[in-house]
Amino acid sequence: MSKRSVVLNIGAPRVRLTLAYAGLLFLLLVAFSIIVYALLSIVVLQDIEPFRDDPGITAAAHRMLGTYVVRLLFANAIGLLLVVAVSWLLAKITLRPLEQAISLQRQFTNNASHDLRTPLAVIRTETSAALHQHPDLPPEYEERVRIIDEQAQRMERLIDQLLTLSHLDADSALDREPTDLTVVVNGVVRDLRPLAQARSVDLKFTRAESAVVMGDELKLSQLVSNLLDNAIKFSPEQATVALAVWQAKDSAYLAVSDQGMGIEPQALPELFSRFQHTNGAHTNGHAVHGLGLPLCRWIAQAHGGDVTVESRQGHGTVFTVRLPAIKA
Ligand SMILES: Nc1ncnc2c1ncn2[C@@H]1O[C@H](COP(=O)(O)OP(=O)(O)OP(=O)(O)O)[C@@H](O)[C@H]1O
Ligand SMILES: [Mg+2]
Repeated sequence: MSKRSVVLNIGAPRVRLTLAYAGLLFLLLVAFSIIVYALLSIVVLQDIEPFRDDPGITAAAHRMLGTYVVRLLFANAIGLLLVVAVSWLLAKITLRPLEQAISLQRQFTNNASHDLRTPLAVIRTETSAALHQHPDLPPEYEERVRIIDEQAQRMERLIDQLLTLSHLDADSALDREPTDLTVVVNGVVRDLRPLAQARSVDLKFTRAESAVVMGDELKLSQLVSNLLDNAIKFSPEQATVALAVWQAKDSAYLAVSDQGMGIEPQALPELFSRFQHTNGAHTNGHAVHGLGLPLCRWIAQAHGGDVTVESRQGHGTVFTVRLPAIKA
């Protein structure tokens, strides 16, 4: 991500920093060798100045300078090895505080997310009980409880995203088993239907074929959930969000299309970078965090697939997920 995601995997930066240090130190070494050779040449040529006409002495002097060149080249080769070792150490020392800060931050995100889950679960249990066990609730209270429930659900999703992001930064593995994308999408549609209904957005399947992948069901649900949440969030009222799941050759596909206002073309290249939200996007009053799409891309890529986007401003957006399918 050119305005790239926060650098959390420290391995690659250490290599880059080592190369930068090594390059700099090696340049200094070469410059030093050139200066040494220049000074030696001046001294030798000054010494043989009185015997300039004696070809034997001049040849011996040039042979001597040639020997110096070979020795300096040899010294530089050994120096290069030393330079790489020292640079690796320097890079390690430089990055250590950063690694510690990242690890602390990851731990904090984990702990805070876990601690926030419990009160939220309690809120949701209470709101569900109020909504389902009290049909006589006055409409204005019912509406308020529904809003609380909706926002608590949104917070749950955000916390899940944060947890997954902190896990994936730690290179956590996927828990994979044969998973039908249609089943995953149906589950997510069931969860988000109330959100769509609240905005009078119609969710409909244009294609719901079986498409089985070796997948981590929880993470795939997060992927679909964010795409669908975005489609609902960025759609005008009364719009339709279309879902399609199908399999073609060795790939399983999921497409989420909306009739929202679309995404500015200049925002598309950075759309999957963390904390991005396009300035023009109409959020319909919902919070935008810019964590969902990076997570979607990571989940898709971790499964060996990818997410792509096509958008026409004023017409809508289509996100397509492609994953390797299990061969039938
Ligand atoms: N279907 C869509 N239509 C229009 N804009 C979209 C759509 N999906 C994403 N975007 C734009 O991309 C941005 C990033 O989306 P992303 O899902 O990463 O974050 P978010 O929805 O803002 O927050 P969250 O972290 O809660 O998902 C959004 O803020 C919005 O500007
Ligand atoms: Mg989102």
